[in-house]
Amino acid sequence: MGTDPAGTVERNGRPARWFHAGVYVTVIVLLATGWWLQLGQEGRPSVLARATGASDAELHTVTGWVLAGLTALAAVVGARGWRTFWRESVRFHRGDAAWFRRWPAAIFTGRFGWHEGRFDPGQRIANLVLVVTLLALVVSGVGLALVSGGPAFVWFLLVHRWATYVVTPVVVGHVIIASGILPGYRGVWRAMHLGGHLRRTDATRVWPAWTDRHPR
Ligand code: HEM
Ligand code: HEM
Repeated sequence: MGTDPAGTVERNGRPARWFHAGVYVTVIVLLATGWWLQLGQEGRPSVLARATGASDAELHTVTGWVLAGLTALAAVVGARGWRTFWRESVRFHRGDAAWFRRWPAAIFTGRFGWHEGRFDPGQRIANLVLVVTLLALVVSGVGLALVSGGPAFVWFLLVHRWATYVVTPVVVGHVIIASGILPGYRGVWRAMHLGGHLRRTDATRVWPAWTDRHPR
């Protein structure tokens, strides 16, 4: 037949897609260079450092400022989007526990439990953890960049390290899920890339109530 009779649905608009792309490019560089420093490789330039000619610490700090700038810009320009994102992430419903019970199998079968709202219960938890830990990383990172010693530095470093331990597995999990390599999540990567449209059949499987409310 060629075309999908069920059509597609737009999931994320252009500003959200560009902000997301900016965040993930910077976060991936920050994770790579941050872990490199953490593992005591300061003296050995990583692939990224060799490619750019800057040291890993410089690369990390510059990218960190870019992420801090993006965050500030999004807070000002995207205030409305943030409010919606936050409101949709802090809601919990009857039925969420049942959704979680079905989740481990549904990752492979695609038979997810029904849930209300824009995000599924797993996304809502991931969203809260990501926002809190990334904000902690930005604030403590700016602190590390501006302060060169003393008790404040020690405190910033502690927050920065612990936030790194928490954020790393959550980002890895998000990328595995959102990339669509698991059968249950096939096709969802399109929600955030190219035109932000995904197939209705994929959207119905993952976000049933939301898809019902979006005819196009
Ligand atoms: C995803 C976000 C981030 C992650 C995962 C991350 C991770 C790390 C890690 C693991 C270290 C090494 C700590 C150690 O030596 O034990 C580090 C150091 C540092 N981070 Fe970040 N970071 C992030 C964001 C930022 C941001 C937004 C800034 C703001 C400018 C920043 C500034 C710094 C600075 C100045 C250092 C010390 C670098 C040096 O050794 O000279 N980081 N980061
Ligand atoms: C590396 C840092 C990244 C961070 C911090 C991040 C963060 C987020 C957040 C907070 C959301 C909102 C909804 C949700 O939790 O699913 C989201 C959505 C999404 N992300 Fe990422 N992301 C990152 C990387 C990636 C990458 C590399 C991909 C590539 C496949 C990706 C694909 C998606 C998709 C498809 C959505 C849309 C889900 C929806 O419409 O509900 N993300 N991301």
